[in-house]
Amino acid sequence: MLFYTLALSVHALATLVWVGGMIFAHFVLRPAAMDMALPLRLGLWRRVLPRFFTLVWASIAALLISGYGVLFLGYRGGFTGGGIHIDIMQITGLIMIANFIYLFFGPFQAFKARVDTEEHTKAAATLGRIRQIVLVNMILGVFTVAIGATGTLWAY
Ligand code: HEM
Repeated sequence: MLFYTLALSVHALATLVWVGGMIFAHFVLRPAAMDMALPLRLGLWRRVLPRFFTLVWASIAALLISGYGVLFLGYRGGFTGGGIHIDIMQITGLIMIANFIYLFFGPFQAFKARVDTEEHTKAAATLGRIRQIVLVNMILGVFTVAIGATGTLWAY
């Protein structure tokens, strides 16, 4: 029971970091940076995104280890015994992770290279692509949090 409590606390904290970070980036930092001159704005995101994405990698590792860890040890009947909310959470969670891996190794690497070589127009277009993917993940994340947090109320 102590392990489940600790693991699911880590799970909730990882969720907080990833989804909270996306909400902050979208609703707070982006509008605040909108009026900045393009090179400055790109430079800001060039510094912000690597730091945030490091936290996202840590969150993903924590979510997977804690989520699958408790199931592996038989929490709520294990892999086959849990409610449908756990299946839904896994599906949306794995889609979020796949989106992030694509974002990290595709547009994010291109963005960094374009900012570093001062190709501002192309860098801005790539930043727009990153924003779209983060928006999709933010919506999926909010949905997944609601499912994960309330599933026990409706699935049992
Ligand atoms: C992808 C693999 C994942 C697995 C295997 C997994 C597994 C679990 C399990 C077993 C629980 C406990 C549910 C219960 O008590 O009935 C849980 C809870 C929860 N999950 Fe996930 N989860 C995953 C991904 C995610 C993601 C990506 C998010 C959010 C972005 C998320 C958010 C939550 C929340 C908010 C809770 C309720 C609080 C807590 O118990 O920590 N999960 N998850």
